[in-house]
Amino acid sequence: MESVIIKDKKFEVSITASAISQRVKELGAKLNEDLKNTRPIFVSVLNGSFLFAADLFREIKMDAEITFIRVSSYEGTQSTGSVKSVVGIKESLEGRTVVIIEDIVDTGDTAVYLINELKKQNPKQVLFASLLLKPDALKHPVKIDYVGFEVPNDFLVGYGLDYDGLGRNLKDIYTLA
Ligand code: IMP
Ligand code: MG
Repeated sequence: MESVIIKDKKFEVSITASAISQRVKELGAKLNEDLKNTRPIFVSVLNGSFLFAADLFREIKMDAEITFIRVSSYEGTQSTGSVKSVVGIKESLEGRTVVIIEDIVDTGDTAVYLINELKKQNPKQVLFASLLLKPDALKHPVKIDYVGFEVPNDFLVGYGLDYDGLGRNLKDIYTLA
């Protein structure tokens, strides 16, 4: 099996570039069907989703917009745990069909936070597309409308996902060996 070393860890291929490409086309076709007669705005969550967003967006056949946000998290100064904020949204989402694009949903913390934050702008609907979902890691009952692949609760890199900032440029997705 093809493997790579990133820093101190060895990873093995788990989802090939061709499987990703095939699945992204299927998700695009589903979105084209579900969102026809809307002019959706896609919201790509940086950094991890940039490749998935680029590939998925090219499958969209209707008039559509795309914008990019970042979720910055920092440790709270009190016992509140981690505090997050969304940066980067300049467009008005009022009345819009919004599709959040993520690389992976793990615990679901980020997904729940993002959906709640974007809903504050009174969009018509907020949909969520994630290339990967770890069902066994989910801590929240969050609905991910479009899922590329369900994966085991292991650490993954490649196709946008990183290990300490590295590995995002790998064309396949790899799992920790
Ligand atoms: P959540 O808030 O726990 O769902 O985590 C979401 C974020 O954690 C993702 O957007 C990723 O940035 C990161 N993450 C979770 N699992 C992995 C992984 O296996 N590899 C790389 N990043 C991950
Ligand atoms: Mg992410």
